[in-house]
Amino acid sequence: MSSHRLLATALVLLAAAVVPAAAPAAAHAAADGITRGTIYKDGPDNRYLLGGEWLFRRDDASVGLRQRFQRQTAKTGWVAVAVPNAWNVGDHSAASMTGTVAWYRKDFRLPDRRSRMDWLVRFESVNYRAQIWLNGVSIGRHTGAYLPFDLRLPRGALKRQGMNRLVVRVDNRRLGADFPPSGLTGSGDPAGGWWNYGGLLREVYLQRVDRVDVTSVAVRPVLPCRTCTATVRARVVVRNYGDTSTRVRITGSYGERSMSLGTRTVAARSFRSFETRIRIARPRLWSPARPALYPVRFAVRAGDRRVLGYRLSSGIRSIKVAGGRLLLNDRAVSLRGVGIHEDDPLAGFAIGSARRAEIVAQAKELGGVVLRAHYPLHPEIHELADREGMLVWSEIPVYAVKTEFLKRDVVRRLAARELEANIVANQNHPSIMLWSIGNELSARPGPVQSFYINRAVRQAKALDPSRPVGLAVAGYPSAGCRPQYAALDVIGVNDYFGWYPGPNGQIADRDALSDYLDSVRACYPNKAIFVSEFGAEANRDGPVQEKGTHQFQQDFIAYHLAVHGSKPWLSGSLYWALQEFRVRPNWDGGNPRPNPPIHEKGLLRFDGSKKPGWFDVQRLFAAGQRLGGQ
Ligand code: GCU
Repeated sequence: MSSHRLLATALVLLAAAVVPAAAPAAAHAAADGITRGTIYKDGPDNRYLLGGEWLFRRDDASVGLRQRFQRQTAKTGWVAVAVPNAWNVGDHSAASMTGTVAWYRKDFRLPDRRSRMDWLVRFESVNYRAQIWLNGVSIGRHTGAYLPFDLRLPRGALKRQGMNRLVVRVDNRRLGADFPPSGLTGSGDPAGGWWNYGGLLREVYLQRVDRVDVTSVAVRPVLPCRTCTATVRARVVVRNYGDTSTRVRITGSYGERSMSLGTRTVAARSFRSFETRIRIARPRLWSPARPALYPVRFAVRAGDRRVLGYRLSSGIRSIKVAGGRLLLNDRAVSLRGVGIHEDDPLAGFAIGSARRAEIVAQAKELGGVVLRAHYPLHPEIHELADREGMLVWSEIPVYAVKTEFLKRDVVRRLAARELEANIVANQNHPSIMLWSIGNELSARPGPVQSFYINRAVRQAKALDPSRPVGLAVAGYPSAGCRPQYAALDVIGVNDYFGWYPGPNGQIADRDALSDYLDSVRACYPNKAIFVSEFGAEANRDGPVQEKGTHQFQQDFIAYHLAVHGSKPWLSGSLYWALQEFRVRPNWDGGNPRPNPPIHEKGLLRFDGSKKPGWFDVQRLFAAGQRLGGQ
């Protein structure tokens, strides 16, 4: 046989030897709905999306633990769903808002069966309490939505060959100590600021660990002045999952610049931090007008092997409060923006990339540069905001938590954990302009709220000294100056003058708004002040003096933006909200002819159509926005 034929034969035999090993893994991954990578761009390159078919079953009687649903193999009683999933979309009953228990199940084969690999499962958002099993073994629990968490898949429970079964019990029955809390409205309906969608509301990933994993990455540009050289501090924390210590080397790049974070020994089953800093002369600044981004890459090597890559986009800009103003790259700004909810008529909060892109595009079309939400937004919205030059008021859902709960350790610990999780997960996005520690706590804060504020501000500054810390409060003149707000950099007042009566009717007359804002300025001369909300419900045409008409909403918008615009010191004005969303049963929102459970202050109807007020806001935002000559 000629040498060519020998070589060809050898290659065929080799291919035959290799392909079968690869074929089932790839074929299985496709069959199991597992795809390499994430739907967002930032992060490590060791994640696999757990898509495809999941199984779901309700457990309204909460018998699943007793009947050991986590061990069931048959499909009887389970139905096929896709994840992300909100199980109660369109169920507008009080029971749906109050919450229930349900279960998810995902059968999967590892996309990489090499025995040296460790594996995690990562949930991007589960509402609200989760308990997770792998092949019948309980592997962990988590409380709280809108923030990611991951759990190790124990080697003893994980099957390298064959099918694994992941089971999640989700309980969204609200309690008084939850974020947002349960409770009843005056009319005896379940309370809450947005619909209590239960489920796996964002994606679920497998994460492969080749001995060493990255647990956090902080890339923090520091810009001392607009024309100064920037210093970029990079800090990567790794975890060694192995039973022996290993030499880890981390290199990277920031734009065109290379970075070396050094080579260090990481002891077995330990964490280690790697840091470096580089200076960037004449940096291209990030701003709404010119959102310049620098691609950042890290490569992690353990021993002689590259085990992980990590990528993100960084923006060099400074956000600070000075002289009672918010400064973006040393320029005082007066921003315009909107409140948003990640809601959708059909998907509820379990929205996908197209809907997220639509929300950001709509806000941009409106002319807003700020997005505010009551909870940490999906990673993809942050990335869109980074690229589009939008700023994010990032808030943890410590929403209208009563003082009796705010003083409980379990609540304080959960709030602290959510604040840390939000900062660790989202700190590298230039779009995030501040960390908000809550919304509408008691308008007459006392020692309990003061303790919460002081500790939360300390914690946020320790984790991220590069951003201001804020709080949104109900705008009531009777609140007066509150020394409990001393530690805050930014105060957002929710302005419903001339819409709600407020306690003792103190905000019924909109003409009191201007003096109120002046009093807030006088109370807090060194803080940046925002109007963090203003809005009026509108669902029909009618007389301008009739609440609930488009004409009233237009007049409300014109009046409030004129007053906000007359305060040159005001750092921002955010309309609440961009679009209608599901809020709660028997919601009236101050509209004499409401349409529960829909919150109708939105400038867009739930179906996405524009109300007349949309065009007024678009025009007035363009006229009123001051971006400091970016
Ligand atoms: C509060 C709250 C919002 C709510 C608004 C309203 O300000 O922060 O979440 O939607 O009131 O009543 O419309």
